[in-house]
Amino acid sequence: MASKIKITGKTKRIIERDKKVFLTTTRETYPFVADRGEGDYSYDVEGNRFIDFASYISVYNMGVNANKGIRSAIKQQVDKLMHSAFTDYYSELPVKFGEELLSMFPRGFGKLFLSNSGTEANEAAIKFAQLFTKRSYNLAFYGAFHGRSKGSLALTASRYVQRSHFGPFSNTIHVPFAYCYRCPFNQTYPGCGFACVDYIKKYPLAKEVNPKEVSAFFVEPVQGEGGYVVPPKDYFKEIKRITDDNGMLLVADEVQSGYMRTGKFLALDNFGVEADIYTMAKALGAGLPLGATVVRKSLGDIPSGSHASTFSGNLVSVSAALASLRYVKRNRKRLEKEAREKGRHIMKRLKEMEESYEIVGDARGLGLMMAIEIVKDKKSKAFGVKERERILEDAFYNGLLLLPAGDSSIRIIPPITMSKPSIERGLNVLENAVKKADQDG
Ligand SMILES: Cc1ncc(COP(=O)(O)O)c(C=O)c1O
Repeated sequence: MASKIKITGKTKRIIERDKKVFLTTTRETYPFVADRGEGDYSYDVEGNRFIDFASYISVYNMGVNANKGIRSAIKQQVDKLMHSAFTDYYSELPVKFGEELLSMFPRGFGKLFLSNSGTEANEAAIKFAQLFTKRSYNLAFYGAFHGRSKGSLALTASRYVQRSHFGPFSNTIHVPFAYCYRCPFNQTYPGCGFACVDYIKKYPLAKEVNPKEVSAFFVEPVQGEGGYVVPPKDYFKEIKRITDDNGMLLVADEVQSGYMRTGKFLALDNFGVEADIYTMAKALGAGLPLGATVVRKSLGDIPSGSHASTFSGNLVSVSAALASLRYVKRNRKRLEKEAREKGRHIMKRLKEMEESYEIVGDARGLGLMMAIEIVKDKKSKAFGVKERERILEDAFYNGLLLLPAGDSSIRIIPPITMSKPSIERGLNVLENAVKKADQDG
């Protein structure tokens, strides 16, 4: 298929200027220079239109560039007051938002702290858990991504480049996750009887750290940056038993998996388990920076002065978040149904790709948080790193935005509001790209 997307010197010049002024972050996949967006689509500076299967990393869950109602709430607030020093003065808008956000949580929640990002939401969770338990160790999973500031980076163990030269890190013990496609114990669920959970009890918690010194167990309900790994349905009940038996707190990092992405407001709800602390960010601010750390009421409060942040409760971010949350509340049933139904349809197509192409090792997901894992071949399961690159690039030049995750996975996370025809067109572009990479492999 001839390329639909035309990239000229305009794009190349912006990228060259970018590389001169900015320290390198992670951008490498393809030359997308964002200009504008609406609904299912993103447009680059050349005027090319793309179907968006990435939602700007699961931020635009309610459509690219949010929706009109959210944008008009932002505009009105900008003209009124943008910043209110919410950790020093009072203001009503963040209070309203806090009340409405808490109404989305299980009974007994609670109290919350607002910040500006996922990493800050997790930093707050680390500190609050330590304050509540008077313990200092944390447990987290291999493959986890909880952020890049030094506290949350101690929990992150997704790729070592993210940690290299930044240590030493504070008291975190990493344990294997239920990554069943690549089971570290070479077993198969359910016959394994959760050998990975047994391991946590028999080794780290018996030989490395006294469980009574562990403050919190940090989990992503669906592992995100680590490759979109969905554990078995009963898995978190086993993890919750460990935390309950030992007086640790269970912290659910819902930064990527939360906010309706999996068909529920909280992804952990899919597993029939409640956490003690939840963290959210990304889609929470509907395009503006906002993080939240929500704690169970019975845990109590923190001493005045022990935690705060200048932009906590920023009025513009909160106005966007409140408008978005009200949209979610008004349309909750429909959004749940759409995430479920669209997710089921996409999964059917992804499973067909898994059957048809040697390089699609695994198709997995929950709601509209899905991925395919690209391998060299099904038998070796060797990571198909080059093959994945080819697919991402080919899809881009045919008008589809995709993002990688883990060693060789590709995430499929369209806005939950994406229309069925756009989903179908996107899946066709994806399948064509997979087919070409499979044939050339
Ligand atoms: C599960 C999870 N937690 C935390 C973070 C960090 O969020 P932020 O980049 O807003 O600091 C991310 C970012 O991808 C994430 O996916």
